[in-house]
Amino acid sequence: MTISPTGATPEYEQYLRRLPKVELHCHVEGTLRPGTVVELAAKHGIALPTTQVDEVYRYSTIYEFLEIYRTVNSTVIDREDFARIAYETLQDGVELGNLKYREMFFNPTLHTARGIPMATVIDGLIEGAKAAETDFGVRCAFIADVYRQDPPPVARQMVEEVLAHRRPELIGLGMDAAEAPDPPEKFVEAYRVAKAAGLRLTSHCAEDGPAANVTTCLDLLGCERLDHGYHILEDPAVVARCRDEGVTFTVCPTSTAVVYGWPDLTTHPITKMIDAGLRVMLNSDDPTMFHTDIGTEYAKFCGQNNFRPELVRQLVVQGVEAAWLDDIDKAAMRRAFETEIDELDREYVS
Ligand code: HPA
Ligand code: ZN
Repeated sequence: MTISPTGATPEYEQYLRRLPKVELHCHVEGTLRPGTVVELAAKHGIALPTTQVDEVYRYSTIYEFLEIYRTVNSTVIDREDFARIAYETLQDGVELGNLKYREMFFNPTLHTARGIPMATVIDGLIEGAKAAETDFGVRCAFIADVYRQDPPPVARQMVEEVLAHRRPELIGLGMDAAEAPDPPEKFVEAYRVAKAAGLRLTSHCAEDGPAANVTTCLDLLGCERLDHGYHILEDPAVVARCRDEGVTFTVCPTSTAVVYGWPDLTTHPITKMIDAGLRVMLNSDDPTMFHTDIGTEYAKFCGQNNFRPELVRQLVVQGVEAAWLDDIDKAAMRRAFETEIDELDREYVS
């Protein structure tokens, strides 16, 4: 079958789903299957607001969303549970979007604050990821995230605890939660400790904060890439700098369409970032919570924007290039991706 990629036809959506993918912005805590939440709640005797699987992720405000985020994660308790959620989300990525490699965020203090040992969290997640690699061939590394509403000493202590339980699969430090009230400079100490220990650095930034946070994250925290970044568009000088330096932004169409009210993906800030020459790559952020997956992100965003296959290939490759893999590994992944995309182009693109 051949298609002309002129819109979100079913064939083009299938092509977009089948492209090989890297994902660099996905929070394991936002990936739990609703059925798994219900089962884990039953296993541990935890009461949920609902045990109806299709009601678990029903919310109408960001506050309800954050409440559900905390509630569903309260069901993840032992090492086996952490392994299960890592395994299942990687399986979902493979089956729904041909995911090949993910660098996945987790929020250590979301778990340690409720008494879960750091070793249970880290060892469980890695165990699940290794099982997924064995069963599906997908690879995964992990990034510990500072939770911005934690006080800076708690964030620094989190980094030290993560370093005390360091495993080769744990490669970086990031930062999430609400940006506007807690700007990046608060966490310079946590980033300094992480950098000194050789962790790679990223941060959610200019998501609901100003473009100035981009500069802070690059220059003060030492970030190598940035998550989201939409408000950079408000400062042309920062845009020009990031374009010239080739900074990669890990962007998330659906989650931000929902949270920030940019439902039209053809006018979403991501399209303007691409037009401005910024390097972006696509991600699902909190896929099950936002009723999406990595395949759907490509299908919706690239389909609705009527992107030519050459541009979509560029977005995919930018994901590979921004991954924190060594150069040999990255070059091999890029070659394998190009070959697979060539085959898909022969099958689909007229
Ligand atoms: N932004 C802020 N906090 C978050 C996000 C995000 O994209 N995902 C999960 N927690
Ligand atoms: Zn995020």
